[in-house]
Amino acid sequence: MNADARQVPPLFSETIRGDDAPGTGAATGPLKPILKWAGGKRWLVPELSRIWKEHAHRRLVEPMCGGLAVTLGLMPQRALLNDVNSHLVNFYRWVKAGLRFGLPMRNESTMYYEHRRRFNELIRQGKADTSEAAQLFYYLNRTGYNGLCRFNRRGEFNVPFGRYKRINYEPDLAPYQQAFANWEFRVGDFASVPLEPGDFVYADPPYDVEFTQYAKDGFSWDDQVRLVEWLAAHRGPVVLSNQATSRIVSLYERFGFQLRFLEAPRMISCNGDRTRALEVLALKGV
Ligand SMILES: C[S@@+](CC[C@H](N)C(=O)[O-])C[C@H]1O[C@@H](n2cnc3c(N)ncnc32)[C@H](O)[C@@H]1O
Repeated sequence: MNADARQVPPLFSETIRGDDAPGTGAATGPLKPILKWAGGKRWLVPELSRIWKEHAHRRLVEPMCGGLAVTLGLMPQRALLNDVNSHLVNFYRWVKAGLRFGLPMRNESTMYYEHRRRFNELIRQGKADTSEAAQLFYYLNRTGYNGLCRFNRRGEFNVPFGRYKRINYEPDLAPYQQAFANWEFRVGDFASVPLEPGDFVYADPPYDVEFTQYAKDGFSWDDQVRLVEWLAAHRGPVVLSNQATSRIVSLYERFGFQLRFLEAPRMISCNGDRTRALEVLALKGV
């Protein structure tokens, strides 16, 4: 709770500009994600690096940046990083502002549920944008079940204790603070991201799950369609990744994207067998 009060990030809806932040520029080497995040694409970084290297002079935009595995792997000089999850973005903004951990962090269920209760209290009190909330968010992410970020209908974080054997808390945030110095973070729906014509956009939506119109992780089929329409209208280079369901493949083809298929590291059940999930990369202007 001792991050410098003068560097409080602005409230959720506005971007924080790189030049407001301490540090002089992006760190050079790739960094690992700080958080556990569902659908992290660290495994795609080698493939994306080959595409990105021709465009490294551009601003990298991730309209749904999640755990930041890709941006931290590519280490652009300039980036605009957006996500609809305000707690996630609050955490990144505080890291950029020089977050220091003053919170006790232990891998114990009693402490976990006490910190979870306090996090929900801060949300209720309209204090979800504080340094304390950012620290609690980090602790809950590392200690909770599978790094999930889930809320009940009353808006309370309700992920259970994770039962990990060992957790290494206390990350060295200094390299992240340095990397974030020229990166902007914002909260909102992807379609509200103010793109510039020369931006390189990498979009990684929640996976499509075939045969449902309903929102999985809050992202429906209509949102998948809205995303590809939005990206197709962008004049600069675009890379889009998703699970290669047949309707996603025909949707991306219909909008004129070039497709590449890759085996994802995760396994899925297919006719009783376990097989590698198929990922599609949809490219335009790269
Ligand atoms: C698959 S994850 C991204 C993972 C990220 N590429 C990584 O490697 O860690 C998808 C992200 O989309 C975000 N999201 C869902 N709906 C969104 C929307 N309408 N606008 C912006 N972001 C959204 C989720 O909060 C989640 O962080």
